[in-house]
Amino acid sequence: MIDDPIITKDEVVDLYRKRARRYDFTANLYYLIGFREWAYRRRAVEALRLRRGDTVVEIGCGTGLNFPLLQEAVGPEGRIIGVDLTDAMLEQARSRVAENGWSNVDLVLSDAASYHFPAGIGGIISTFALTLAPEYDQVIARGSRALAPGKRWVILDFKLPANWLASLAPLLAFLTRPFGVRLEMADRHLWESIERYLPNSRLIELYGGFAYIAEGKRGA
Ligand SMILES: C[S@@+](CC[C@H](N)C(=O)[O-])C[C@H]1O[C@@H](n2cnc3c(N)ncnc32)[C@H](O)[C@@H]1O
Repeated sequence: MIDDPIITKDEVVDLYRKRARRYDFTANLYYLIGFREWAYRRRAVEALRLRRGDTVVEIGCGTGLNFPLLQEAVGPEGRIIGVDLTDAMLEQARSRVAENGWSNVDLVLSDAASYHFPAGIGGIISTFALTLAPEYDQVIARGSRALAPGKRWVILDFKLPANWLASLAPLLAFLTRPFGVRLEMADRHLWESIERYLPNSRLIELYGGFAYIAEGKRGA
């Protein structure tokens, strides 16, 4: 699409090591351009339709910004497994877990591409993360097979709109570049992988088509 070299995994780790301590603050700055991040996070977690006691896996959990919402959904009798490639991001997540006294969170330092999902899980979510992994299609396939019947995969991320607004793509690329996003990643259509492996699926466009929630449900 555009000559903008894709960031390597080592570069992703370097970048997030530098950003980890201020990540929560900088992520919130998207509010300044009218991006209703928290409303979208809440919608994504609601789309999982978790039940109390469920185990949910978050791929690319970062500092654990979604954990309070996931905790509300699964309760103390449930489990959250947060997987991330960057040690420094998981350190921030670990502090959040300790500060909140949560004893039902496992943090796993792993590349999503090599992570083995436990069988029969109650939901998988990834927000603003899995698009960074070139192997996203295999990860979605593997996760889909690990879901318990009737359970869901949900992805929240940026994309390009199909209409004239796509001409604003360089602006979006500029705004998301500090988080490792490259315009070339716009060719990564994760919602198509969700559709491929989970026939009961749905794509919800947000923010003028610049963001989306894709949800897919495993058949019974
Ligand atoms: C923009 S942050 C999003 C963090 C969190 N999901 C959120 O919504 O705030 C992207 C995260 O994805 C992680 N990440 C990038 N590539 C990954 C990969 N291949 N496997 C696992 N995590 C990855 C990064 O380390 C970083 O913590």
